[in-house]
Amino acid sequence: MKTINELFDFQGKVTIISGGAGAIGSEAARFFASLGANVVVADLNEEGSKKIAEDITKESGNNALGIKIDVTDEKQIEKLVQATVDKFGKVSGVLNNVGWGAYTDLWGSNTEKMVDAYKLNTLGAYNLTRLCMPYLKKEDNASVVFSGSMVGNTPSPEFIEYSTAKAGLLNMVRSMAVASGPEVRFNSIIIGTVDNGESSKEAGYTQEMIDNVVKGIVMKRRGLPEDIAYAMAFLMSDAASWITGAELTVNGGGVYKSKMPTS
Ligand SMILES: NC(=O)c1ccc[n+]([C@@H]2O[C@H](COP(=O)([O-])OP(=O)(O)OC[C@H]3O[C@@H](n4cnc5c(N)ncnc54)[C@H](O)[C@@H]3O)[C@@H](O)[C@H]2O)c1
Repeated sequence: MKTINELFDFQGKVTIISGGAGAIGSEAARFFASLGANVVVADLNEEGSKKIAEDITKESGNNALGIKIDVTDEKQIEKLVQATVDKFGKVSGVLNNVGWGAYTDLWGSNTEKMVDAYKLNTLGAYNLTRLCMPYLKKEDNASVVFSGSMVGNTPSPEFIEYSTAKAGLLNMVRSMAVASGPEVRFNSIIIGTVDNGESSKEAGYTQEMIDNVVKGIVMKRRGLPEDIAYAMAFLMSDAASWITGAELTVNGGGVYKSKMPTS
């Protein structure tokens, strides 16, 4: 049996993190680096990804690469994978973490918005994974983790574009998992509401809405980005080497409603 330090030793591993300059992605990048991984911080936000990579290199001494990437552009994903292999010689894991969606009226969407949400939340993860597969297959305990969402497995008419795309993501990961074992493991984290600063407000939430959601959560708080980073590290680690095709719900216990409502 391995020790906890051995199970969570990421020395020599190379992990690509998409959306790596965002709230959850940047925390994951820092945490993975603290476990010994070399991380590639890939994000549309060029300044953010470069800054996070520089900070990680200073803090952990590990090599980190910050790269501008638009996951909806296949050519840019090809360049990201090539740059990773040029610098580190391999890809051991991928965190497909880009995702976003704004409030939409159920019948207020259109073809363009639905397709754009799919490209951002689902197709980008497919293409990044597909292009990494030849490298992942060569690694021990290669693993891909996806940032899923509660809206992807519950009815979510308020976020019809985002929720439909995230539902597609979950089923795509299940297909990848059954067809790609034992070489590569694929797992999703079904994320509940996590404090990501302005991003939630841009998606249409007001502080009052957030406070109301928090009241119903069993743990009585929103998640912190590190709550998700820890779960990502677990699914990537040797401790999870027999876990594939799983959906790990990390949502503070969810929202509980009594089966015997009094009001
Ligand atoms: N925060 C939450 O409450 C919550 C809940 C459920 C699921 N999630 C999922 O977790 C993941 C991370 O969310 P977060 O809260 O850290 O969000 P965030 O908005 O803080 O970070 C997302 C990052 O993705 C980047 N990005 C956006 N479009 C991109 C593109 N085309 N190419 C590359 N990068 C792009 C942004 O620049 C940003 O840095 C997302 O997939 C999100 O859907 C978050």
